[in-house]
Amino acid sequence: MAIRLDGKAFADGLCEKLITEVEGLKAAHGLRPCIAVVLVGEDPASQVYVRNKVKRCEQLGIDSIEHRPADNITQAELMALIDELNGNDDVHGILVQLPLPEHLDEDQVINAIQPEKDVDGFNLLNVGRLSVGQKGLLPCTPLGSMMLLKDHLGDLSGLNAVVVGRSNIVGKPMAQLLLRENCTVTIAHSKTKNLADVCRSADILVAAVGRPRFVQGDWIKPGATVIDVGINRIEEDGKNRLVGDVDYDAAFEHAGAITPVPGGIGPMTIACLMYNTVAAAKAANKIE
Ligand code: GUN
Repeated sequence: MAIRLDGKAFADGLCEKLITEVEGLKAAHGLRPCIAVVLVGEDPASQVYVRNKVKRCEQLGIDSIEHRPADNITQAELMALIDELNGNDDVHGILVQLPLPEHLDEDQVINAIQPEKDVDGFNLLNVGRLSVGQKGLLPCTPLGSMMLLKDHLGDLSGLNAVVVGRSNIVGKPMAQLLLRENCTVTIAHSKTKNLADVCRSADILVAAVGRPRFVQGDWIKPGATVIDVGINRIEEDGKNRLVGDVDYDAAFEHAGAITPVPGGIGPMTIACLMYNTVAAAKAANKIE
């Protein structure tokens, strides 16, 4: 039997603190933290994500500016929009919702965002800063996962951490953050041999593969802490369900603690976007 790591409650607590902080910034400095969100086209999943992000901004008193160009926008037009947002001192964070339509060069767009406004932490400079241990904006999902892990476990030094998945958005930065906390880190992926055994060596297991219930209960070392990053929509028993990358019910019998889906890492990701936006607004105005 495991402890359910309640990401929703932790995220709500973090957002409460941010509400107070944003009020303080407005009162003491006349500073209104502001994020620009760019959503290209009509992708339904992206629309839901963006709606949730904007809703959280409203709750926290963070200004948000939405740009919703049609999916036939050209690369040059999109780059011009990023340029304009970079140059707008009232905008502290810029988020371009991914994926972009195929004709657009995602890397070029992300890397055009001024690193100090890169609240997703995807920009090459922020990726580089993380890998050499310099301060920078951190990607929201790994940052939220680390907050929950440290809250539950305290010191992570010397623990064996296995990250299943090697994406630039989650797997790789998650591994970097775990390494920074002195874990012994393994990144596993689709070509890993004896994946079940590798997972069984983990005191901390992070599942970020994007496959529903991929990680089996008996892959989990008894007492391990399991972070499930997956958000997969499946049809089951005639119902539309949201499930993670871990077989939750089976894993619950083995793990010491596990994040549920929904209500685990998802809310943490959005809360950390708010956290990064406030941090970017403070940094831009040289406020500690
Ligand atoms: N698409 C899926 N996840 C993300 C994310 O964290 N940030 C952005 N910008 N797009 C995404």
